[in-house]
Amino acid sequence: MKVIIRDTMEESSVWAARYIAKKINEKAAKTNEPFVIGLCTGSTPIETYKELIRLVKAGEVSFKNVISFNMDEYVHLPVNHPESYHSFMHKYLFDHIDEPAENIHILDGNAPDLKKECEEYEKKIAAAGGFDLFLGGIGEDGHIAFNEPFSSLNSRTRVMTLTYDTRVVNSRFFDNDVNKVPKQAMSVGVATVTGAKEVVILAFGPKKAKAIAASIEGPVSGYCTLSVLQLHPAATIVCDDLAVGELKYNSVKYFKAVEAAEAE
Ligand code: GLP
Repeated sequence: MKVIIRDTMEESSVWAARYIAKKINEKAAKTNEPFVIGLCTGSTPIETYKELIRLVKAGEVSFKNVISFNMDEYVHLPVNHPESYHSFMHKYLFDHIDEPAENIHILDGNAPDLKKECEEYEKKIAAAGGFDLFLGGIGEDGHIAFNEPFSSLNSRTRVMTLTYDTRVVNSRFFDNDVNKVPKQAMSVGVATVTGAKEVVILAFGPKKAKAIAASIEGPVSGYCTLSVLQLHPAATIVCDDLAVGELKYNSVKYFKAVEAAEAE
């Protein structure tokens, strides 16, 4: 596991966006096969998406041969609700880049058969060739996508019941009213994420510091699903200075030394 640490969220986001663009361009230089990416929502990736949009507009990367799958969506929230992850993704990314509409995949939280929708999502990911890179954020309790504590580390896309804590945290998007936050969501599983060739996680601000420390220094456990990245061969966590506030001094020193050595 690598941890990239920058002073601010803005600098970290620029690093992440340029890294993703570099990966897309590297694959495009080698093959005509599409680049398959997993995408996330939340306040965390917004700056990364802004920089990706800038790079697309500057002609430094193209999403024409990119296929994306979003990691989650609320159950029974109308698709055009401003807080649906469909709305979020179009507002912050898809409406501004050149990814073909048919390459965009987001779980349908209003599908008549939610179980079938989840199973078909996994099949579509496999048919696309699996993920080259999965971009994720992290919940305050260390969850990835909506894989709440005690999720199986072998889980696949399915309907999840959200913890009260997650609904309280997300109520800031729903007029601060926890009762307006859907009780369930559909989410890729932990194993769907770790099946990616590469995983890049963004974590910014002091509210993520405990989860980051638990994920990196704690045991691998379903209690903190991001900790599974310790078993992944190519995982990178991109943090600002505040998000590494609970890591041991020596861990931070080590991760910075690794990055400096690799840049030489
Ligand atoms: C939700 C999403 C996660 C996201 C997390 C953090 O729980 N399902 O994918 O990582 O929120 O959101 P934020 O980036 O707003 O802190």
